[in-house]
Amino acid sequence: MKILVTGGLGFIGSHTVVELQSKGYEVIIIDNLSNSSEEVLNGIEAITGIKPIFENLDLRNKLVVKEFFKKHADINGVIHFAASKAVGESVEKPLLYYENNISSLIYLLEEILQLREPNFIFSSSCTVYGEADVMPINENTAVKPALSPYGNTKQIGEEIITDVAKVSNLNAILLRYFNPIGAHPSAEIGELPLGVPQNLVPYITQTGIGLRKELSVYGNDYNTPDGTCLRDYIHVVDLAKAHVIALQRLLDKKNVDKVEVFNLGTGVASSVLEVIIAFEKCSGLKLPYKIVAKREGDVPMTYANTDKANAVLGWKTESTLDEAMASAWKWEKKIRGK
Ligand code: WQD
Repeated sequence: MKILVTGGLGFIGSHTVVELQSKGYEVIIIDNLSNSSEEVLNGIEAITGIKPIFENLDLRNKLVVKEFFKKHADINGVIHFAASKAVGESVEKPLLYYENNISSLIYLLEEILQLREPNFIFSSSCTVYGEADVMPINENTAVKPALSPYGNTKQIGEEIITDVAKVSNLNAILLRYFNPIGAHPSAEIGELPLGVPQNLVPYITQTGIGLRKELSVYGNDYNTPDGTCLRDYIHVVDLAKAHVIALQRLLDKKNVDKVEVFNLGTGVASSVLEVIIAFEKCSGLKLPYKIVAKREGDVPMTYANTDKANAVLGWKTESTLDEAMASAWKWEKKIRGK
Protein backbone atom coordinates (compact mmCIF):
# COMPACT_ATOMS: atom_id res chain seq x y z
CA MET A 1 0.00 0.00 0.00
CA LYS A 2 1.44 3.37 -1.08
CA ILE A 3 0.54 6.33 1.15
CA LEU A 4 1.24 9.99 0.47
CA VAL A 5 1.97 12.02 3.60
CA THR A 6 2.01 15.77 2.94
CA GLY A 7 3.98 17.70 5.57
CA GLY A 8 5.58 14.36 6.40
CA LEU A 9 8.76 15.98 7.71
CA GLY A 10 6.83 18.06 10.24
CA PHE A 11 6.19 17.31 13.91
CA ILE A 12 3.06 15.13 13.68
CA GLY A 13 3.75 14.09 10.08
CA SER A 14 7.15 12.55 10.83
CA HIS A 15 5.78 10.57 13.77
CA THR A 16 2.95 9.32 11.56
CA VAL A 17 5.42 8.26 8.84
CA VAL A 18 7.25 6.16 11.45
CA GLU A 19 4.01 4.45 12.49
CA LEU A 20 3.00 3.86 8.84
CA GLN A 21 6.35 2.31 7.97
CA SER A 22 6.22 0.18 11.12
CA LYS A 23 2.96 -1.25 9.82
CA GLY A 24 4.45 -2.03 6.41
CA TYR A 25 3.09 0.86 4.36
CA GLU A 26 5.21 2.37 1.59
CA VAL A 27 5.38 6.11 2.31
CA ILE A 28 5.98 9.08 0.01
CA ILE A 29 6.48 12.47 1.65
CA ILE A 30 5.78 15.84 0.11
CA ASP A 31 7.13 18.75 2.16
CA ASN A 32 8.25 22.28 1.22
CA LEU A 33 10.57 22.45 4.25
CA SER A 34 8.98 25.77 5.35
CA ASN A 35 8.66 24.44 8.90
CA SER A 36 10.87 21.34 8.86
CA SER A 37 14.22 20.01 7.70
CA GLU A 38 15.41 17.24 5.37
CA GLU A 39 17.44 15.97 8.36
CA VAL A 40 14.17 14.52 9.70
CA LEU A 41 14.44 11.81 7.00
CA ASN A 42 17.54 10.48 8.81
CA GLY A 43 15.66 10.44 12.09
CA ILE A 44 12.83 8.44 10.52
CA GLU A 45 15.31 6.00 8.97
CA ALA A 46 17.16 5.65 12.31
CA ILE A 47 13.91 4.39 13.84
CA THR A 48 12.45 2.23 11.08
CA GLY A 49 15.47 1.43 8.92
CA ILE A 50 13.57 2.78 5.89
CA LYS A 51 14.25 6.17 4.34
CA PRO A 52 10.94 7.39 2.86
CA ILE A 53 10.74 8.76 -0.68
CA PHE A 54 10.75 12.54 -0.30
CA GLU A 55 9.82 15.25 -2.79
CA ASN A 56 10.46 18.89 -1.89
CA LEU A 57 7.29 20.34 -3.42
CA ASP A 58 4.99 23.24 -2.60
CA LEU A 59 1.31 22.32 -2.71
CA ARG A 60 0.42 25.92 -3.54
CA ASN A 61 1.69 25.21 -7.06
CA LYS A 62 -1.22 23.60 -8.90
CA LEU A 63 0.91 22.33 -11.80
CA VAL A 64 3.49 20.81 -9.45
CA VAL A 65 0.73 18.93 -7.64
CA LYS A 66 -0.70 17.70 -10.95
CA GLU A 67 2.72 16.51 -12.15
CA PHE A 68 3.30 14.66 -8.87
CA PHE A 69 0.07 12.69 -9.17
CA LYS A 70 0.80 11.84 -12.81
CA LYS A 71 3.94 10.11 -11.53
CA HIS A 72 2.19 8.46 -8.59
CA ALA A 73 -1.26 7.46 -9.83
CA ASP A 74 -1.08 4.26 -7.75
CA ILE A 75 -1.36 6.00 -4.37
CA ASN A 76 -3.87 4.21 -2.09
CA GLY A 77 -4.41 6.99 0.44
CA VAL A 78 -3.34 10.49 1.45
CA ILE A 79 -2.71 11.92 4.93
CA HIS A 80 -2.62 15.70 4.71
CA PHE A 81 -0.61 17.54 7.36
CA ALA A 82 1.00 20.26 5.21
CA ALA A 83 -0.33 23.60 6.48
CA SER A 84 0.75 26.67 8.40
CA LYS A 85 -0.28 26.24 12.03
CA ALA A 86 0.81 29.16 14.21
CA VAL A 87 -2.30 30.81 15.64
CA GLY A 88 -0.64 34.14 16.41
CA GLU A 89 1.10 34.34 13.03
CA SER A 90 -2.21 33.65 11.30
CA VAL A 91 -3.66 36.78 12.91
CA GLU A 92 -0.72 38.84 11.58
CA LYS A 93 -0.63 37.22 8.12
CA PRO A 94 -4.16 35.99 7.28
CA LEU A 95 -3.63 35.86 3.51
CA LEU A 96 -0.57 33.63 3.90
CA TYR A 97 -2.72 31.22 5.90
CA TYR A 98 -5.73 31.30 3.58
CA GLU A 99 -3.54 30.83 0.52
CA ASN A 100 -1.34 28.09 1.99
CA ASN A 101 -3.93 26.12 3.91
CA ILE A 102 -6.90 26.44 1.55
CA SER A 103 -5.45 26.54 -1.98
CA SER A 104 -3.12 23.62 -1.30
CA LEU A 105 -6.07 21.60 0.01
CA ILE A 106 -8.07 22.38 -3.15
CA TYR A 107 -5.23 21.42 -5.54
CA LEU A 108 -4.60 18.24 -3.55
CA LEU A 109 -8.26 17.21 -3.59
CA GLU A 110 -8.55 17.82 -7.33
CA GLU A 111 -5.83 15.21 -7.91
CA ILE A 112 -6.97 12.79 -5.20
CA LEU A 113 -10.35 12.52 -6.94
CA GLN A 114 -8.55 11.01 -9.95
CA LEU A 115 -7.13 8.16 -7.84
CA ARG A 116 -8.63 4.69 -8.00
CA GLU A 117 -9.12 4.89 -4.21
CA PRO A 118 -9.55 8.50 -3.03
CA ASN A 119 -8.95 7.87 0.70
CA PHE A 120 -8.16 11.07 2.59
CA ILE A 121 -7.18 11.80 6.19
CA PHE A 122 -7.32 15.49 7.13
CA SER A 123 -5.36 17.07 9.96
CA SER A 124 -7.90 19.21 11.77
CA SER A 125 -7.91 20.77 15.22
CA CYS A 126 -9.93 21.25 18.39
CA THR A 127 -9.63 24.91 17.55
CA VAL A 128 -12.71 24.49 15.33
CA TYR A 129 -14.80 24.27 18.52
CA GLY A 130 -13.76 27.75 19.65
CA GLU A 131 -14.88 28.31 23.25
CA ALA A 132 -17.22 25.32 23.60
CA ASP A 133 -20.01 25.55 26.18
CA VAL A 134 -19.90 21.96 27.39
CA MET A 135 -16.82 20.03 28.56
CA PRO A 136 -15.53 17.54 27.60
CA ILE A 137 -16.12 18.32 23.94
CA ASN A 138 -17.69 15.69 21.68
CA GLU A 139 -17.75 15.67 17.89
CA ASN A 140 -21.37 16.84 17.77
CA THR A 141 -20.44 20.01 19.64
CA ALA A 142 -21.33 22.91 17.39
CA VAL A 143 -18.41 24.38 15.53
CA LYS A 144 -18.15 28.03 16.58
CA PRO A 145 -16.82 31.08 14.72
CA ALA A 146 -13.08 30.58 14.56
CA LEU A 147 -10.91 32.50 17.02
CA SER A 148 -8.13 32.95 14.42
CA PRO A 149 -7.54 32.74 10.67
CA TYR A 150 -5.65 29.50 11.38
CA GLY A 151 -8.71 28.01 13.08
CA ASN A 152 -10.87 29.32 10.24
CA THR A 153 -8.74 27.51 7.67
CA LYS A 154 -9.40 24.27 9.54
CA GLN A 155 -13.14 24.94 9.63
CA ILE A 156 -13.21 25.88 5.93
CA GLY A 157 -11.07 22.84 5.13
CA GLU A 158 -13.58 20.55 6.82
CA GLU A 159 -16.44 22.20 4.91
CA ILE A 160 -14.63 21.88 1.57
CA ILE A 161 -13.98 18.17 2.17
CA THR A 162 -17.61 17.59 3.19
CA ASP A 163 -18.95 19.39 0.10
CA VAL A 164 -16.58 17.49 -2.24
CA ALA A 165 -17.43 14.11 -0.69
CA LYS A 166 -21.13 14.73 -1.36
CA VAL A 167 -20.57 14.80 -5.12
CA SER A 168 -17.59 12.49 -5.58
CA ASN A 169 -16.11 9.16 -4.56
CA LEU A 170 -13.97 10.83 -1.88
CA ASN A 171 -13.85 9.01 1.49
CA ALA A 172 -12.45 11.17 4.26
CA ILE A 173 -11.75 11.16 7.99
CA LEU A 174 -11.26 14.47 9.81
CA LEU A 175 -9.05 14.17 12.88
CA ARG A 176 -9.43 17.00 15.40
CA TYR A 177 -6.26 17.16 17.50
CA PHE A 178 -6.19 18.59 20.97
CA ASN A 179 -2.72 19.57 22.19
CA PRO A 180 0.01 17.38 20.68
CA ILE A 181 3.19 17.23 22.81
CA GLY A 182 6.28 15.09 23.35
CA ALA A 183 8.56 13.21 20.97
CA HIS A 184 9.34 9.69 19.80
CA PRO A 185 10.87 7.73 22.76
CA SER A 186 14.03 7.17 20.69
CA ALA A 187 14.57 10.98 20.56
CA GLU A 188 15.42 10.52 16.86
CA ILE A 189 12.49 12.76 15.87
CA GLY A 190 10.52 15.46 17.71
CA GLU A 191 9.22 18.98 17.40
CA LEU A 192 11.81 21.06 15.51
CA PRO A 193 12.42 24.33 17.39
CA LEU A 194 12.16 27.15 14.86
CA GLY A 195 12.18 30.57 16.52
CA VAL A 196 10.60 31.42 19.87
CA PRO A 197 8.09 28.66 20.74
CA GLN A 198 4.46 29.79 20.92
CA ASN A 199 3.32 26.55 22.53
CA LEU A 200 3.69 25.71 26.21
CA VAL A 201 5.69 22.49 26.20
CA PRO A 202 8.57 23.48 23.88
CA TYR A 203 8.85 26.76 25.80
CA ILE A 204 9.12 24.80 29.05
CA THR A 205 11.82 22.45 27.75
CA GLN A 206 13.79 25.35 26.23
CA THR A 207 13.59 27.13 29.60
CA GLY A 208 14.72 23.93 31.30
CA ILE A 209 17.74 23.60 28.99
CA GLY A 210 18.66 27.27 29.60
CA LEU A 211 17.70 28.72 26.21
CA ARG A 212 14.92 30.84 27.76
CA LYS A 213 15.22 32.77 31.02
CA GLU A 214 11.82 31.84 32.44
CA LEU A 215 8.37 30.73 31.38
CA SER A 216 5.56 33.30 31.33
CA VAL A 217 2.34 31.71 32.55
CA TYR A 218 -0.49 33.50 30.77
CA GLY A 219 -2.87 34.14 33.63
CA ASN A 220 -3.73 32.32 36.86
CA ASP A 221 -7.12 33.80 37.59
CA TYR A 222 -9.23 31.69 35.26
CA ASN A 223 -12.23 29.88 36.69
CA THR A 224 -10.30 26.60 36.96
CA PRO A 225 -9.05 24.61 39.98
CA ASP A 226 -5.63 26.28 40.13
CA GLY A 227 -6.52 29.36 38.07
CA THR A 228 -4.49 28.39 34.99
CA CYS A 229 -5.94 27.14 31.70
CA LEU A 230 -6.86 23.51 31.19
CA ARG A 231 -5.89 21.65 28.02
CA ASP A 232 -5.86 18.05 26.73
CA TYR A 233 -2.20 17.24 26.11
CA ILE A 234 -1.81 14.17 23.89
CA HIS A 235 1.47 12.34 23.21
CA VAL A 236 2.38 12.78 19.54
CA VAL A 237 3.03 9.02 19.17
CA ASP A 238 -0.50 8.22 20.36
CA LEU A 239 -1.75 10.80 17.87
CA ALA A 240 0.31 9.25 15.05
CA LYS A 241 -1.05 5.77 15.78
CA ALA A 242 -4.60 7.07 15.45
CA HIS A 243 -3.82 8.21 11.88
CA VAL A 244 -2.76 4.71 10.83
CA ILE A 245 -5.91 3.22 12.34
CA ALA A 246 -8.10 5.83 10.60
CA LEU A 247 -6.35 5.22 7.27
CA GLN A 248 -6.78 1.45 7.56
CA ARG A 249 -10.48 2.04 8.26
CA LEU A 250 -10.84 3.76 4.89
CA LEU A 251 -8.70 1.21 3.05
CA ASP A 252 -10.87 -1.57 4.49
CA LYS A 253 -13.97 0.46 3.49
CA LYS A 254 -15.24 0.23 7.09
CA ASN A 255 -16.23 3.89 7.25
CA VAL A 256 -20.01 4.25 7.63
CA ASP A 257 -20.10 7.81 6.29
CA LYS A 258 -18.21 9.39 3.43
CA VAL A 259 -16.82 11.89 5.95
CA GLU A 260 -16.20 10.85 9.56
CA VAL A 261 -14.95 13.09 12.37
CA PHE A 262 -12.96 12.05 15.46
CA ASN A 263 -11.53 13.95 18.40
CA LEU A 264 -8.00 12.86 19.22
CA GLY A 265 -7.18 13.63 22.84
CA THR A 266 -6.63 11.88 26.15
CA GLY A 267 -9.97 12.94 27.67
CA VAL A 268 -7.96 14.32 30.60
CA ALA A 269 -7.64 18.06 31.31
CA SER A 270 -4.30 19.29 32.67
CA SER A 271 -3.52 22.82 33.86
CA VAL A 272 -0.44 24.84 32.97
CA LEU A 273 0.83 24.42 36.54
CA GLU A 274 0.31 20.65 36.31
CA VAL A 275 2.38 20.57 33.11
CA ILE A 276 5.12 22.49 34.92
CA ILE A 277 5.02 19.96 37.77
CA ALA A 278 5.23 17.10 35.25
CA PHE A 279 8.34 18.72 33.77
CA GLU A 280 9.94 19.22 37.19
CA LYS A 281 9.26 15.57 38.04
CA CYS A 282 10.91 14.19 34.90
CA SER A 283 13.82 16.64 34.83
CA GLY A 284 14.53 17.03 38.53
CA LEU A 285 14.78 20.78 37.83
CA LYS A 286 12.86 23.69 39.34
CA LEU A 287 11.33 25.57 36.40
CA PRO A 288 11.63 29.38 36.65
CA TYR A 289 8.29 30.99 35.73
CA LYS A 290 6.27 34.12 36.36
CA ILE A 291 2.56 34.79 36.16
CA VAL A 292 1.72 37.40 33.53
CA ALA A 293 -1.43 38.72 31.85
CA LYS A 294 -3.78 36.39 30.00
CA ARG A 295 -3.02 35.73 26.33
CA GLU A 296 -5.52 37.11 23.81
CA GLY A 297 -7.67 34.30 22.37
CA ASP A 298 -6.95 31.69 25.05
CA VAL A 299 -9.98 29.73 26.21
CA PRO A 300 -10.11 28.72 29.92
CA MET A 301 -10.48 25.03 29.23
CA THR A 302 -10.76 22.60 26.37
CA TYR A 303 -10.49 18.84 26.51
CA ALA A 304 -11.84 15.94 24.51
CA ASN A 305 -14.64 13.49 24.94
CA THR A 306 -12.84 10.53 23.36
CA ASP A 307 -15.69 8.01 23.47
CA LYS A 308 -16.20 8.00 19.69
CA ALA A 309 -12.54 7.39 18.78
CA ASN A 310 -12.29 4.77 21.53
CA ALA A 311 -15.44 2.94 20.40
CA VAL A 312 -15.35 3.34 16.62
CA LEU A 313 -11.60 3.35 15.93
CA GLY A 314 -10.76 1.08 18.82
CA TRP A 315 -8.05 3.61 19.69
CA LYS A 316 -7.16 5.23 22.97
CA THR A 317 -4.10 7.05 24.24
CA GLU A 318 -1.47 4.96 26.03
CA SER A 319 0.90 7.63 27.34
CA THR A 320 0.47 9.77 30.45
CA LEU A 321 1.30 13.47 30.75
CA ASP A 322 4.41 12.53 32.73
CA GLU A 323 5.60 10.17 29.97
CA ALA A 324 4.89 12.77 27.29
CA MET A 325 6.82 15.44 29.18
CA ALA A 326 9.73 13.05 29.76
CA SER A 327 9.90 12.36 26.00
CA ALA A 328 9.82 16.10 25.25
CA TRP A 329 12.65 16.71 27.73
CA LYS A 330 14.74 13.81 26.33
CA TRP A 331 14.32 15.31 22.84
CA GLU A 332 15.30 18.80 24.01
CA LYS A 333 18.46 17.49 25.63
CA LYS A 334 19.31 15.41 22.53
CA ILE A 335 19.03 18.31 20.07
CA ARG A 336 21.02 20.60 22.35
CA GLY A 337 23.76 17.99 22.73
CA LYS A 338 23.15 17.72 26.47
C1 WQD B 1 -1.43 25.90 26.08
C2 WQD B 1 -1.66 26.63 27.40
C3 WQD B 1 -1.55 29.02 27.24
C4 WQD B 1 2.68 29.25 26.21
C5 WQD B 1 -2.53 25.72 20.25
C6 WQD B 1 -3.37 26.02 19.05
C7 WQD B 1 -4.19 24.83 18.68
C8 WQD B 1 -3.31 23.63 18.52
C9 WQD B 1 -2.48 23.39 19.76
C10 WQD B 1 -2.84 23.37 16.19
C11 WQD B 1 -2.52 27.86 27.23
C12 WQD B 1 -0.42 28.48 28.12
C13 WQD B 1 1.41 28.77 26.52
C14 WQD B 1 3.41 30.00 27.16
C15 WQD B 1 1.59 29.74 28.70
N1 WQD B 1 -2.47 23.77 17.41
N2 WQD B 1 0.89 29.02 27.75
N3 WQD B 1 2.83 30.21 28.38
O1 WQD B 1 -3.11 27.61 22.60
O2 WQD B 1 -3.99 25.48 23.71
O3 WQD B 1 -3.38 25.45 21.32
O4 WQD B 1 -1.73 24.59 20.00
O5 WQD B 1 -3.83 22.78 15.88
O6 WQD B 1 -4.85 25.11 17.48
O7 WQD B 1 -4.24 27.06 19.42
O8 WQD B 1 -1.58 25.62 23.01
O9 WQD B 1 0.66 25.37 23.97
O10 WQD B 1 -0.01 27.63 22.99
O11 WQD B 1 -1.00 26.89 25.14
O12 WQD B 1 1.10 29.96 29.82
O13 WQD B 1 4.57 30.46 26.93
O14 WQD B 1 -0.41 27.10 27.89
O15 WQD B 1 -2.11 30.18 27.83
O16 WQD B 1 -3.34 27.97 28.37
P1 WQD B 1 -3.07 26.14 22.74
P2 WQD B 1 -0.39 26.40 23.73
